[in-house]
Amino acid sequence: MKICVVGAGVIGLSSALHIQEICQNVEITLMSEKFSPETTSDVSGGFWTPFTVDAVKQPIIRSWAKETLDYMFRLCRSIDAGEVGAQLLSGYYLPKTDQWFKDIVLGYRDMTEEELQLFPNPGGGVFFTSASVDVKSYLPWLMSRFKANGGRVLKIKVNTLAELSPEYDIVVNCCGVWAGDVTVDSSVRPIRGQLLRVHAPWIKHFIFNLSSENYAYIIPGAYDVVLGGTFEEDDWNEKPDSRVRERILNNCSNLFPSLKAIKFSSDWTGLRPARPTIRLELESIQTPTKTSMVVHNYGHGGSGVTLHWGCAREAAKIVAQAIHTLSTRPKL
Ligand SMILES: Cc1cc2nc3c(=O)[nH]c(=O)nc-3n(C[C@H](O)[C@H](O)[C@H](O)COP(=O)(O)OP(=O)(O)OC[C@H]3O[C@@H](n4cnc5c(N)ncnc54)[C@H](O)[C@@H]3O)c2cc1C
Ligand SMILES: *[C@@H]1O[C@H](CO)[C@@H](O)[C@H](O)[C@H]1NC(C)=O
Ligand SMILES: *[C@@H]1O[C@H](CO)[C@@H](O)[C@H](O)[C@H]1NC(C)=O
Repeated sequence: MKICVVGAGVIGLSSALHIQEICQNVEITLMSEKFSPETTSDVSGGFWTPFTVDAVKQPIIRSWAKETLDYMFRLCRSIDAGEVGAQLLSGYYLPKTDQWFKDIVLGYRDMTEEELQLFPNPGGGVFFTSASVDVKSYLPWLMSRFKANGGRVLKIKVNTLAELSPEYDIVVNCCGVWAGDVTVDSSVRPIRGQLLRVHAPWIKHFIFNLSSENYAYIIPGAYDVVLGGTFEEDDWNEKPDSRVRERILNNCSNLFPSLKAIKFSSDWTGLRPARPTIRLELESIQTPTKTSMVVHNYGHGGSGVTLHWGCAREAAKIVAQAIHTLSTRPKL
């Protein structure tokens, strides 16, 4: 059986690894136009926090989210934590909100009066503990595990998934915001995000101001601190904008004034793959010569890292079922 995973962001890499783990006697090729550090996943803050995905419309998101956070907590405790920059991360969400993931993270509670005095005009807030990874270390680490397990890697731009079906029995679509180019789906669209990575090792807590007018967030990672950010729907521009950088710096320093002392380090822009629901399902494509199976895994919006492990396991289970179907079907 020959399987092809298209896309080398956090979704493609983790899907390929899970397929290697649960499917025997298969040959897996990871095919992608771009690799780390050039994917959307490399731009991500690497922080476990659901954003722009709808767990009311798609309740299974809750279990993917929990499975992924439990895995990230295991990673934080493992001997690999240093290599991938995996860390427990606690901090503040302002203003006070009732989040659906409050019983998935650890110790979710209202901020105390004393904590509220740390921030100007806060309107309440919550505190909790989650986890993060350094994506620019984590993605190469996933890739090296895939290769060590015998995975093959090809740098190629795919025009349509159908062109892969003569060669591959099963194709796994992990093309992120570009999924609509390789398959028929007009509901995937970008939500552009720009952020800065700065050197501010004294920042040890995440701080989010979620209010829509003054949206700003601070996410300390193992090697740098992410300052964000923007949220621009249907904007395909992948170039950072220097005026936006000034606004981000300004808003983040208003949120936590010690950041006024930072030295600028680098600008990053990425396109969140937004979709009304995440597409994680099997589609069979009938060609004149054979039936080939496509497993879609895309549309994770602002939550690709937050959901990747749970979604990858689900995708691999669907692949395993497809292998079973293909191998037990009577040959004509
Ligand atoms: C500013 C910003 C901050 C973020 N912060 C967080 C965060 O803290 N936590 C979190 O959970 N999420 C965050 N996200 C969201 C997260 O980055 C995405 O959900 C995630 O990266 C999506 O992963 P992906 O693998 O689907 O897509 P991508 O990383 O975009 O990977 C897609 C892959 O498919 C390949 N590809 C596409 N089309 C083709 C083709 N035709 N042929 C061959 N290859 C193709 C690409 O080259 C690429 O390798 C953030 C996003 C942005 C923009
Ligand atoms: C968060 O944003 C709101 C709305 O712009 C603002 O009133 C509030 O002061 C901000 N909070 C902090 C702590 O910066
Ligand atoms: C920064 O704050 C301004 C004013 O409150 C707001 O309009 C803007 O959306 C915020 N964020 C960015 C990145 O500009």
